[in-house]
Amino acid sequence: MKNFLLAPSLLSCDFANLANEIGMLNKSEADWLHLDIMDGVFVPNITFGQPVIRQIKKYATKPLDVHLMIVEPDRYFEDFKACGADIISVHYEACTHLNRSINKIKELGMKAGVVLNPHTPVAMLENILEVCDMVLLMSVNPGFGGQKFIDNSLSKIATLKEMIEKHNSKCLIEVDGGVTIENCRSILNVGADVLVAGNAIFATANPLQTISEFKSILL
Ligand code: DX5
Ligand code: ZN
Repeated sequence: MKNFLLAPSLLSCDFANLANEIGMLNKSEADWLHLDIMDGVFVPNITFGQPVIRQIKKYATKPLDVHLMIVEPDRYFEDFKACGADIISVHYEACTHLNRSINKIKELGMKAGVVLNPHTPVAMLENILEVCDMVLLMSVNPGFGGQKFIDNSLSKIATLKEMIEKHNSKCLIEVDGGVTIENCRSILNVGADVLVAGNAIFATANPLQTISEFKSILL
């Protein structure tokens, strides 16, 4: 059985019961906590920032996987590190000097990922892959939870997997948006290493059990 990591997205959790939600994730089989930071400029939605991340870090026993959907992300790397981020992913579309951004994240002692929107070809990664710890492929247009998985993401994952193998890289492939119990097997089969799921976990009656169902998927 292929091992994969599951990163529940807190975007769909009950924010009024955040400590309980994190407690549930701590005792679950989830691997990372996925935090979606939106600024209302890069994406048409606003979520939360440093003060909330700092509180999450007080309770979480698992790595914080921070997905920045913001313009000029470099301004905040030190801040996010101080709040407890373990992994920071920045959008290719938001970074003019992506190589500098990735190196800065790593110099601060965090893992660094690059995110591609659905319309950005994986070929754009050719000259940045070697410095990345992870590539996050968006399988919906970023901004909202609960959207439908865009099907051509599967061929993007497969192309990226080939590229990673060709470069002999250890870069992980994370897939974010519209991931469900029903489609996760096909996503993993084409090469994904980390799955993000928000709605498919938190909109169920028993998220703890749903996480366990995800993790027991047989490939
Ligand atoms: C979308 C976010 C995702 C989102 C996924 O902009 O990056 O992480 O929370 O939510 P679901 O799994 O509901 O599509
Ligand atoms: Zn995300």
